[in-house]
Amino acid sequence: MRAIQLTAINELSIAEVPAPQPVRGEARVRLMAAALNHRDVWIKQGQYAGITYPVLPGSDGAGIVESVGLGVDPQWIGREVVINPSFGWGDNEHAQREHFTILGLPRAGTLAELIAVPVAQLTVKPSHLDWPEAAALPLAGLTAYRALFSRAQLKPGEKILISGIGSGVALFALQFAIAKGAVVYVTSSSDSKIARAIALGAKGGFNYTQSGWTKTTAQLGHTFDVIMDSAGGDGFDELVDLTTPGGRIVFFGATRGNPPVLPMRRIFWRQLTLLGSTMGSPADWTSMIEFVAQYKVEPVVSAVFPFTRAAEAFALIESGGQFGKVVISL
Ligand SMILES: NC(=O)c1ccc[n+]([C@@H]2O[C@H](COP(=O)([O-])OP(=O)(O)OC[C@H]3O[C@@H](n4cnc5c(N)ncnc54)[C@H](OP(=O)(O)O)[C@@H]3O)[C@@H](O)[C@H]2O)c1
Repeated sequence: MRAIQLTAINELSIAEVPAPQPVRGEARVRLMAAALNHRDVWIKQGQYAGITYPVLPGSDGAGIVESVGLGVDPQWIGREVVINPSFGWGDNEHAQREHFTILGLPRAGTLAELIAVPVAQLTVKPSHLDWPEAAALPLAGLTAYRALFSRAQLKPGEKILISGIGSGVALFALQFAIAKGAVVYVTSSSDSKIARAIALGAKGGFNYTQSGWTKTTAQLGHTFDVIMDSAGGDGFDELVDLTTPGGRIVFFGATRGNPPVLPMRRIFWRQLTLLGSTMGSPADWTSMIEFVAQYKVEPVVSAVFPFTRAAEAFALIESGGQFGKVVISL
């Protein structure tokens, strides 16, 4: 079968590799579409722990079950499925266990014609989604769902600020929070991305590249019950000032690195809660898929590239030019 293979830092190519055979408990899926996450870009750039080449990247995928291994109900064959990329979470809802992994490293990923995974990782595709939308959903949808609801406990009517709306996870958070009845504001480096977020239902947005944007925002009377961030770095300190006393800041990434200071006095005086979040448990996955089906959430797809142009899909994410998920059709 054909797969996208990484043989060294930034060395991507289409390779002919052996087709995976499903072992006991597994199903083999013919992928119809896959999607990229920033994780794939970190892996391509060699900035991810535990890389041993070659790597077959890709955490997001949707397709049709083609065959099953021993012990799997043959009725799975022919089903249209999405793949849960969160492997080996364990039975603790509070945190994943030590041997938790994400599909696409170390396990062979979704940028391939075929994949074999335990059948427990498969869920029937919500019927309102087409293939690119279904492929766009898994990793970013799961991360957004756990951060918003399992960790930050976002309630209808609460005011939330979602930073960096160009991020795939942030955009799902926008759609989920609106569906839940929250009042959503966003930040972005791009005024046109803010305008597109408003068209999707955000109440407003702020350009984080304008100096003093947090002061202006606070002067306009804005503070937020929940702030969701994946950038960190210098800007994290400013988010503390925008949180309503008693509010929560939930974060799942550190694109800009660690914050240089943690303003402890302002955090304890304002009774703030800092919440880390990563991916999601099997229960989060099931709840997320049900939520998407119930509210007919349609993932925003920024662009669809044919398999042979996968390098352009990576380049689009590396440039930060996307709004929504970047999908590769198979
Ligand atoms: N822990 C987990 O389970 C988990 C899961 C998924 C992602 N992540 C992490 O979350 C981050 C985003 O991932 P992704 O796949 O959603 O990325 P992505 O789709 O590539 O989005 C990147 C976006 O980050 C935003 N950004 C960059 N610098 C920023 C800043 N200074 N302030 C605010 N936003 C900024 C930009 O938004 P604008 O274009 O709007 O400026 C950019 O478009 C990465 O660090 C990733 O590793 C973690």
